[in-house]
Parts: sequence; structure tokens; C-alpha cells
Amino acid sequence: MQTVLSGIRSTGNLHLGNYYGALRNFIKMQDQYNCYFFVADYHSLTTHPDPKILYENVKNVITEYLAAGLDPEKSTLYIQSDVPEIPELYLLLNMHAYMGELAKTPSFKEKARKQPENVNAGLLTYPVLMATDILIHRANFVPVGKDQEQHIELTRKFGRRFNNFYGVEFFPEPQAFNFGTNLIKIPGLDGSGKMGKSEGNCIYLKDDPKSIEKKVKKALTDQGPTEMNQAKPECIENLFTILRVVSTPETVNYFEEKWNTCEIRYGDLKKQLAEDIIKVTEPIRERILAIENDAAYLHKVTKLGAEKARESASGTLREVREIMGFRPF
Ligand code: TRP
Repeated sequence: MQTVLSGIRSTGNLHLGNYYGALRNFIKMQDQYNCYFFVADYHSLTTHPDPKILYENVKNVITEYLAAGLDPEKSTLYIQSDVPEIPELYLLLNMHAYMGELAKTPSFKEKARKQPENVNAGLLTYPVLMATDILIHRANFVPVGKDQEQHIELTRKFGRRFNNFYGVEFFPEPQAFNFGTNLIKIPGLDGSGKMGKSEGNCIYLKDDPKSIEKKVKKALTDQGPTEMNQAKPECIENLFTILRVVSTPETVNYFEEKWNTCEIRYGDLKKQLAEDIIKVTEPIRERILAIENDAAYLHKVTKLGAEKARESASGTLREVREIMGFRPF
């Protein structure tokens, strides 16, 4: 079975766009691949987060991924900083990563521009840490967005360089995993392209039904259709896009027809949309509320994840040490 690995940066709550985007694909992948999902908490240190906030964010990610359907028995769900083999392999790989190539990585240059007062060494070697995350489980596929492909490319480079330098065929070459047509893009409620937390147009999985109703009610609409079968403006098309994802085909057809005959009432459309969104999010929200107050469960799950991750990681590290010449007397 092939190995899939995904690192999650611990920022903010999950929204409907995250859920219908990568997350639902992760949930399906659990039955088809050997999956590793982890919280990249060491990576977040590059921006010097407040310790309390770091802790809350990590807890939040684990809680929400579990609540949405990641299964700690099927997958290996862990926290990066629970696996000491990662910093060790990172140290070893740093010896084969060069200042010049790291300094010209677009993600580094962008971060250095954004936080000129904090261009730390961790920022420079961020791609080495990410390569370590991937190589330590000898992963085959890494589902990432476009902005992360530069890091997968560097990972392949570091792996190949190690293999060539030591004359071994040890690290496989990971590929960026593209969900293709399975990646559903959920638009925002403000008539804009995409739901995203920086846009402030999100419905969060943790939102209660009242807030969902309120947010949907406030969604941008227009004056309504004036001609039969006319094309929909973006803000209305967006509401239909979400409706197609959360509602039944009958419901969608009903409102399509109302639109086409100019009889649509946006109030009705929004009421139905809110109701069907709540049907999706409410069970997840209930699980979030239960899990976040269940310290024993969170402890058990993260301990199990760390054990499974360390088993795989220590196997790789043992061989790497041997290959590099660290051998017992
Ligand atoms: N850099 C990734 C991001 O910003 C997070 C990440 C860290 C990651 N390590 C990884 C993603 C390993 C995939 C594989 O989103």
C-alpha cells in the first residue's frame, strides 16, 4: 500500500471550504492508503507564536480533524513535536542542504519580506524540516496546494542528493497529490471567489445553527432575475454552488426552476440553504464540543498517533544513521 502524508499548519478553525476541499478527500483516502496526518507545530515556531496560542491551536486542529472524520485507528494522526526522530533527521539533512538554494526559495523570500525583523534560521531551513516530515515516512504522495509544490520539489532534490551521495536507493521520490475534480471549491458568502478565513466570509464547522442562519441571511444577493432563464450573477451562482453540495438534487432543481421562471424568493433559498448546511455541520459541531472537553480521549489519541509515527520514523532513522556511518561499536 502506498503512503500519503499531509502536514497541517495549526491556524484557525475549519470552515465549510476546508471540509469540502481537502478534508473529505483525506477521510476517503484513509481506506485506500497508509495515511499520516500531523500537526506541523514546529513549523509554526518560525513566526514566534505565544505559547498559550500555540497550545490552543494544536488542540484545535486535532479536535476538529477528529470530529470531521479522521480515524486515529485507520490513519496515523500525530503532533510533529511528539516525534523526536524528526528533529534528529532534520539535523542530518541540514548538512546536505545549501545556504544558496534555501535562500532563493520563493517561500523564504516572501516570509523574509513579510517579517524582516524575524528572519530566523528556522525560516531558512523550513523546507528541510518539511522534507524531513515527508522523507521520514518515505511517503509517496503529499496532498498540497500550489504554493507548497516548491517544497515537494526540494524534498525530491534532498532525497535524490542523499541517495546519490551515499550510493543508495533509500528515499523514494514523493509526488504532489492533486485531488483534481474531487476538489470542490466552496465560494464565499460575499459574492467573492473562495471561502477563506482571511476573507471573513466563512461558515465554520463549529458555528452554531443560529450563527449559520444569520450568516446565510446576510449573504450578498442581487435584485432578482428579470428575464426567463437568464444567467446568474456571481453572488447567486455562489449560493447555488453551495446548495448543490449540501442539498438534494430535488431541492436544487426546485430553486433552479424558480430562478428560470423569475419566481425565486431569496429568503426561501437562504432558509433552505441554511437548513441544509446545518444538517452537515451540526453533527460535526457536536463532536467538536464533546472532544474538546475530553482530555482523556485527546491524550489517548495523540499518544497512539505518536507511537505509530515513531515506529515508522525510527525505522527510517536507524537506516539513515547506518548509511551515514553512525554505527555502534
Ligand atoms: N508547509 C505546509 C503548509 O504551510 C505544512 C507542512 C509542514 C506540510 N510539513 C509538511 C505539508 C509536510 C505537507 C507535508 O501548509
